[in-house]
Amino acid sequence: MSKRMVICITGASGAVYGYRLLQVLTSMDFNIDLVVSSSGWVVLKQELDVTKHKILEEFPQVRIIPEKDIASPIASGSRLINYRGVLVTPCSMSTLAHIANGTNQNLIHRVCEVALKERVPLLLLVREAPYSLVHLENMLKVARAGAIVLPASPGFYHRPKSLAEIIDFVVGKVLDSLRIEHNLYRRWKEE
Ligand SMILES: Cc1cc2nc3c(=O)[nH]c(=O)nc-3n(C[C@H](O)[C@H](O)[C@H](O)COP(=O)(O)O)c2cc1C
Repeated sequence: MSKRMVICITGASGAVYGYRLLQVLTSMDFNIDLVVSSSGWVVLKQELDVTKHKILEEFPQVRIIPEKDIASPIASGSRLINYRGVLVTPCSMSTLAHIANGTNQNLIHRVCEVALKERVPLLLLVREAPYSLVHLENMLKVARAGAIVLPASPGFYHRPKSLAEIIDFVVGKVLDSLRIEHNLYRRWKEE
């Protein structure tokens, strides 16, 4: 099974989910191609004080690809088929709309389009509150096209005691969706 993953971080609130996925997946020896939108960098700085420099320093297995690099290998199906999946974590309503309507404006939209056409698992961790009809229709469109739409809404049945446990519940659901084994949260009726 491939240990390559594409992670895209867009400008929705919840940059911590993308950041935590970098920590968890690199600890599992995944190599990550990371694409962050310009708004994604703004939110990473606003919510976590995380910069490009910090990511490069902290994660040697992460390669950052500029969102404008439309000629990147991962923009081609011939390369993307060798990846385990594409995770957009978090996914803004703007990026969702571009994916749903096939209007590519950057590498993130293109990689998601390629994932759909090549049947590479595509997961969108959507985040907005509340959702408009436009948002909901776009979610329906991408779900029909084969994407996994996962709302950034944690459960509480595992009785989390910290913010870290709440984050890890959502990150664990992302990994569950791609059938990647983990122990990030306690499963229902699991000791
Ligand atoms: C601090 C901050 C939080 C934001 N949170 C959200 C959000 O939760 N959901 C959303 O769809 N957009 C959110 N936005 C707006 C997006 O960043 C904006 O629509 C942007 O154009 C998205 O571009 P992108 O999809 O290329 O990253 C937020 C913006 C900022 C600055």
